[in-house]
Amino acid sequence: MKALFDSEWPILWYEDIDSTNEEARRRAKSGDWQHCWIGAAKQSMGRGRRGRVWQSPVGNLFTTAYFPWEGSAELASKICFSAGLAVIDAAENVGCDTSAMALKWPNDVRVNQRKLCGILIETGQLSSDDLWIAAGIGVNVAMAPEADQLTTCLHALGAPATLDARAFLSVLAMTFQSRVSQLQEKGFSHVRIDWLEKSEGLGQEVVVTVGNDNVRGVMRDMDEAGALILDTAQGQKIITAGDVQLVKKD
Ligand code: BTN
Repeated sequence: MKALFDSEWPILWYEDIDSTNEEARRRAKSGDWQHCWIGAAKQSMGRGRRGRVWQSPVGNLFTTAYFPWEGSAELASKICFSAGLAVIDAAENVGCDTSAMALKWPNDVRVNQRKLCGILIETGQLSSDDLWIAAGIGVNVAMAPEADQLTTCLHALGAPATLDARAFLSVLAMTFQSRVSQLQEKGFSHVRIDWLEKSEGLGQEVVVTVGNDNVRGVMRDMDEAGALILDTAQGQKIITAGDVQLVKKD
């Protein structure tokens, strides 16, 4: 597989856009093969996982890494884990205290159960052999938006008040490069070890919403395929997609 990062990816910055992932999709539709970062100060139609809206106020970072992928679809499905790690690496590089930063499966970045970052990976076919990938990353830089869950932001975690969304993107572009290179060159087993070190909820009771069902159990592991392993009352279950919630202890 060709290395992805043989040259710097241009950063295309928008003051206002519908969604950086939508812009990536438009580029893919027009057959664009140019790797790039699409970044925006504001989104009017930011989208999250499972059809949710991603609040996109000025001050936070909304960005999508858009690139063709000639590797396997299986390896591409692991980019979400590398992206979560890249956000923690970038937060560390700008001076945040990352000791309490954790990854909620598959890739929310949280601090003491407050959401700092959400990731939405979208893919499609660019040619018969190649995929396009849009790795959409929303990071709360200056504001912790009110949402259906608690949130936090980099400025509350030790990042300098002068750090703005665009500056954070230039750091993230570097850490993302190194995490995706790790995936390409060393394979998912290495990413998995790093991910497990930062994972939230291992050994704890969780409820995973899978479609219309809730599966309750103890989170045991993430396997070599990136699936979550749960010990449930009915035995071990392997979850490949879903929303995890920690069960609160009284
Ligand atoms: C989630 O639900 O946690 C994922 C949120 C992903 C939000 C980012 S912001 C940049 C990119 N553009 C979008 O419309 N969504 C992603």
